[in-house]
Amino acid sequence: MRIAVLTESDPAEPRVAAVPETIKKFKGLGADVTIQSGAGLKAGVPDADYEAAGATIAASAAETATDADLILKVRRPNEDELKLLKTGATVVAIMDPYGNEAALKTMADAGISAFSMELMPRITRAQVMDVLSSQANLAGYRAVIDGAAEYGRAMPMMMTAAGTVPAARVFVMGVGVAGLQAIATARRMGAVVTATDVRPATKEQVESLGAKFVAVEDDEFKQAETSGGYAKEMSAEYQKKQAELVATHIAKQDIVITTALIPGRPAPKLVSEAMVASMKPGSVLIDLAVERGGNVAGAKAGEIVTTENGVKIVGHVNVAGRLAATASSLYARNLFAFVETLIDKESKALAVKWDDELVKATNLTRDGQVVHPSFQSTAA
Ligand code: NAI
Repeated sequence: MRIAVLTESDPAEPRVAAVPETIKKFKGLGADVTIQSGAGLKAGVPDADYEAAGATIAASAAETATDADLILKVRRPNEDELKLLKTGATVVAIMDPYGNEAALKTMADAGISAFSMELMPRITRAQVMDVLSSQANLAGYRAVIDGAAEYGRAMPMMMTAAGTVPAARVFVMGVGVAGLQAIATARRMGAVVTATDVRPATKEQVESLGAKFVAVEDDEFKQAETSGGYAKEMSAEYQKKQAELVATHIAKQDIVITTALIPGRPAPKLVSEAMVASMKPGSVLIDLAVERGGNVAGAKAGEIVTTENGVKIVGHVNVAGRLAATASSLYARNLFAFVETLIDKESKALAVKWDDELVKATNLTRDGQVVHPSFQSTAA
């Protein structure tokens, strides 16, 4: 069995799909692993480290991918990459399938079996494979670091001979995986932290991290969580009450971190232009939802916007990628944990169990067809 790890072709992607630790584990399963030269450089892994772990280094993408049975990537392969793969090859990556149906069809036409890591069910068995969690956790941490870096004042309270410095006030909107890590990080840095979410379960989680919960806790709020643990889209009436509460709170905040998402929908608009205008000069907003339409009015993907009243709106994209080494390590482990289940230990060959729950949930294309039920309309 030949495994190939390609250099990410998107210049905005510094992560890599394998690290020396996972190479050794793949070797232990009897696989030959080829890495494209330089694939790990942006994540701090030189070719020599991969070689020491037992991988072969190939000079080009074509040489790396030739005859590979399994290709590991961070992002979905593009058309040029697909041309390098043999028919029937298996590709595992973060495929970003929603809204990219044409790209799924292209992968099907290329004859590959594509697996999308972010479609992994959030069940106990698959926790170790959960890329949404591993990457969102890092994004939440990095959001606080970025916020602190853009903020022109200190985070913790300091009592000095020259006078007392007040602690920064940090408000986290959306308390999923990223939000919880943002709260924990901001608390560790000494900030006074408040947080909001529409799912009632988050109240206790926020309080257990030493932050204060701020939300409209009406009847709709009590039923805002789906059976899958995600947020529902809230009614216009609730959103109005939520906006009124947030408006008075936000004007007093120094750093606001927004992470609110609803699966399959654009990100909810939580911070209006008027709210931004009410904030003090020097305050910072970090919009982690910017790639899904943004939670903050005026946020621009890939930019730091400074408003007329001197508030910075930070719209970094691929925030987990801003910690490329850690993000790659965790992603590579998620990948290994899943891929291991696709390999037969006896024959040391790929042996996908097509009726396995995790395989069915993540398999997008097979035998020239788009096979995932959520994207069937593109199968024709
Ligand atoms: P997400 O990335 O989909 O959304 C982030 C947060 O935004 C969520 O907490 C959501 O409730 C919140 N939100 C949505 N609309 C909002 C609004 N109008 N105002 C304020 N907040 C709003 O969420 P994530 O991080 O993927 O977590 C979703 C759930 O999945 C959580 O319950 C989490 O604990 C759970 N989970 C379960 C795992 C497992 O069982 N293996 C692993 C990871 C997460």
